[in-house]
Amino acid sequence: MMFDLSWLNQSGSNYSKEALVQENEVLKRQIQELLTLDETGFFIELDSLLKAILKKALVLCKAESSFFSLAGKDPAELDVRISNLILEEKMEKIRSRFKSEYPRWQETETPIISIEDFILLPLVRRHRMLGLIGLKLTADAPENVCEILPILASQAAASLESAILYERMFKRLLVLSNVFILGKEIVTNIDLQSLVDKFLTIARDGTESELACIFLVREQDEKPYYSEVQAGNGIAAFAPDSEHGYTPLIRNIRANEKFQLITDLQKNEFAESEAGKVSKYTIRDTICLPMKPRDKFLGVIQVANKKGNANYRPEDLDLLKILSSQIAFVIQNADLFHNLQRAYIDTLSALTSAIDAKDSYTRGHSERVTDLSMKLAQELGLERTEIDKIKLGGLLHDIGKIGIPEGILNKPGRLDDEEFKIIKSHPELGVRILGKVEFLAGVVNIIQHHHERYDGKGYPDGLAAEEIPLLARVVSVVDTFDAMTTDRPYRKALTEEEALTEITHCSGTQFDPGIAAVFVRMIRREKN
Ligand SMILES: [Fe+2]
Repeated sequence: MMFDLSWLNQSGSNYSKEALVQENEVLKRQIQELLTLDETGFFIELDSLLKAILKKALVLCKAESSFFSLAGKDPAELDVRISNLILEEKMEKIRSRFKSEYPRWQETETPIISIEDFILLPLVRRHRMLGLIGLKLTADAPENVCEILPILASQAAASLESAILYERMFKRLLVLSNVFILGKEIVTNIDLQSLVDKFLTIARDGTESELACIFLVREQDEKPYYSEVQAGNGIAAFAPDSEHGYTPLIRNIRANEKFQLITDLQKNEFAESEAGKVSKYTIRDTICLPMKPRDKFLGVIQVANKKGNANYRPEDLDLLKILSSQIAFVIQNADLFHNLQRAYIDTLSALTSAIDAKDSYTRGHSERVTDLSMKLAQELGLERTEIDKIKLGGLLHDIGKIGIPEGILNKPGRLDDEEFKIIKSHPELGVRILGKVEFLAGVVNIIQHHHERYDGKGYPDGLAAEEIPLLARVVSVVDTFDAMTTDRPYRKALTEEEALTEITHCSGTQFDPGIAAVFVRMIRREKN
């Protein structure tokens, strides 16, 4: 060891090995205690976590005084959050020594640093220093304090990482949630599809055309993400080889961002590709106009085949320009709304991958549960809005695991009662984390009830049969299936067929029999 800690062990080391083992056991239990959830908000509120770590460290090591620092941008600058009984003068000395020697400690990844009569424990996760515990030990410190301290440091670092992650993600979620709700209000009652339909009807009839088309494009995409064509009776289709109508003419409008009024298509360079692009119609003449409010290109609108053997006139172009600016406004709002939704879901995905990363055996679990639950919901004939809820519910069902110590999540043996109790707290912890997010109101009961059983013997609320929300019953089947078909710390994966047999076996006790039957049938069909 790089430093002298002999002063800690003044009573000598004539301890018997057995006594040491025994004492270690006691201390291990104490450390475990450090990681339990009985203190309010222990794992998910940074401040209470820091206080709890310090309190336990003081007790565990019989220290006299202590402090806790969080590493900011520059870990050498100590940001002291809590200090117990330490004079500022003393703190200054520690600060300046730490600053000058930090690069050397960082280089060698020193697990314990001593400055003056203080022991400093760097809390390191994935080669990044998250914080630092400082302890002034006394002669009463346990004999094996040198062995306990690194364990304490690594457990504390793991908890601290979760709490920091949670704090960061949650702040972002709340901001996004508020913006999201605002966006939702702006576009309330605006259904893009029906608006586009109305717009096309007005464009078609207002310009006395046979056809009206719209192409919506995003900057980075090569092709339109949406295209539609409307004819006199409302229904029309692009010809199969016309790439959904995204012909050279439309590409040209996109490239030059200028309108084109073509009265005689036959004599035009685009005649060949344009003429037959709509099934059962031959395009003779057309107006194409870029939609470009405030310099942002959104797409192209097109009308074709002026009725009554007439030519398109400047008034037709004017009407299209007005309509185009109106529809552009709506599209931009809808786009904004979708972007927000995507940003929101991306943040949530990041949060779930963080949880999956904690639990090394369930990597990818949340995503697999999401995909399969959505399929099952579809198979059950649920509505689009319910499937959307399943999408988020599947992704987030285990979010509460962010508060469960890794030691328990990854424990190779069977869990004892106490550990099982902690694991069982994850649905409620999930509700505590996401219950405040208004946007997720319809999703939270999936998180809360995905471990209920059909016979009422599940947790947390012991709901039975139809009392359990339908979507939670759906996710429950898939969740169990995925857990059975992946390796776990305590057992090897079952084959799909074995897992299906087990699901059938537990139908009516653990699972909703109707849902279980549909699931088993669906997986068997997909396999063949
Ligand atoms: Fe779960």
